[in-house]
Amino acid sequence: MLGDAKRRGLRVWVSLGSCFSGQAPAQERVMDLGALRKSYRRDEEAFEEKHLASLNPIKQFSVWFEEAMQCPSIGEVNAMCLATCTRDGKPSARMVLLKGFSQSGFRFFTNLESRKGKELDSNPFASVVFYWEPLNRQVRIEGSVEKLPEEESEQYFRSRPKSSQIGAVVSHQSTVIPDREYLRKKNSELEEQYREVAVPKPPYWCCSATSVLGLELGTGTAFTPKVLWLAAESYMPAQRTGGDTS
Ligand SMILES: Cc1cc2nc3c(=O)[nH]c(=O)nc-3n(C[C@H](O)[C@H](O)[C@H](O)COP(=O)(O)O)c2cc1C
Repeated sequence: MLGDAKRRGLRVWVSLGSCFSGQAPAQERVMDLGALRKSYRRDEEAFEEKHLASLNPIKQFSVWFEEAMQCPSIGEVNAMCLATCTRDGKPSARMVLLKGFSQSGFRFFTNLESRKGKELDSNPFASVVFYWEPLNRQVRIEGSVEKLPEEESEQYFRSRPKSSQIGAVVSHQSTVIPDREYLRKKNSELEEQYREVAVPKPPYWCCSATSVLGLELGTGTAFTPKVLWLAAESYMPAQRTGGDTS
């Protein structure tokens, strides 16, 4: 069935239905991953308020981000999981790259015509998670998302290598394509077309920013608190919530 779906170019979804009901159908063999766990170094890795470099969440994030950049075993420090939701509450998540951050939010680039682009258009709120596994650190951010001015998207698009610019034109995210060959062919045609001239930014390629309504830093270590900020008019002091790993 999976093979059929692939041949027909359909998306294949993993069903989470039985996880939610708590009961697997009798004939289904459940892969038991209960014993799969990492041992944490407990107190050494525990994150406490006294370890905060700043009470400002963005400054604190920047300290953690710098530390993650210095960590040789983290391949893509700016990779983050972005979750969006349809207007009627159906969530979807995928990885994107963080392309900048400031006190006003976290920036990423995407295709407005993609699934996430459409979901953000109808429901402009998102949640973002970073997990820097070698450091055992997680950051969760929640906020509203807005499109940044066109000039900023233009500026970033022009700063990308030509191959990535062409890639953005070639790949219409979330749309079904006949096969890989189709993309290769289109890519070669565009390389030829733009050999001597600049690639124009497609109108659907855009920079968006998630403002920060909430930011939480935590470690996976059991019995350590998470530190949570809620943005009101100004950031409230850090609050602690319970942390746990199972
Ligand atoms: C590490 C990594 C980084 C990615 N970065 C981006 C990105 O910055 N922007 C983007 O639109 N898609 C990015 N993608 C692709 C998305 O995960 C996703 O496949 C694509 O955007 C279509 O998503 P959608 O159909 O949910 O809209 C990245 C994928 C990976 C694995």
